[in-house]
Amino acid sequence: MEQLSPTPWPTEPHSVGKSLCHWFPPASIEPFNHVIRALPENPTYVEFGTFLGAGTTLKALRLRDDLQALCLDHWGITGTSAARWNPRGAKNGRHLCDFMVGKGTALQHCQNNLWAYRDRVKLFKGSTTHRTVDILANQGIQPDCVLLDDDHSYEGFMPRLFRCRYRWPNAVIICDDHTSSWPGVVKGVKEALARGFYTKEELYQVGPRMVAFKRDKTDG
Ligand SMILES: C[S@@+](CC[C@H](N)C(=O)[O-])C[C@H]1O[C@@H](n2cnc3c(N)ncnc32)[C@H](O)[C@@H]1O
Repeated sequence: MEQLSPTPWPTEPHSVGKSLCHWFPPASIEPFNHVIRALPENPTYVEFGTFLGAGTTLKALRLRDDLQALCLDHWGITGTSAARWNPRGAKNGRHLCDFMVGKGTALQHCQNNLWAYRDRVKLFKGSTTHRTVDILANQGIQPDCVLLDDDHSYEGFMPRLFRCRYRWPNAVIICDDHTSSWPGVVKGVKEALARGFYTKEELYQVGPRMVAFKRDKTDG
């Protein structure tokens, strides 16, 4: 059976400068926090698309000290490729941070940013697909909350959402970037309703850019 193993944490932080870049706009923070606060005790949070860990990941970890995070990303992203979408926190004072100028890898910066929480964080490095949901579920992982924030294409997003619905029927599934800039996510959410993965009563808005699905019935 295919298995995913977490990337080991280094013995000490990487010697690169602080780079707290993220794509988590202020207007999303409180609505996202509200979802995280409402999770049951000792929640498991699975995140598809962690980037440098400085956005959604740090928020969730700081908010709940009983939360365990499983973070998935290929971490192949570079400062140059990230610059296209203007990440927040790209500067330390007047200067671009190390990540943005090519010093240190995305994974190294992520490990540094999440260092204080490393006993509660598992990082899984690799390209994800909808099959990743099955692999994690087959390993016994049953999250209370999933953030879908990596592949925003319809072809990537829709099958992930589909697999989350079937393998993790009790989880809250948050879909980030449900905006006209990311038509794949909008189309995927619409399709999930049209195909009956969820009812429209099971879909709610989480701030201006996120939506979440939570099933009323939890019978599989
Ligand atoms: C929008 S960013 C995540 C932002 C993050 N949640 C935050 O709050 O700052 C998307 C991330 O998904 C990763 N990614 C995109 N497609 C992926 C794939 N197929 N497999 C793994 N990671 C992927 C990128 O490397 C990037 O770091």
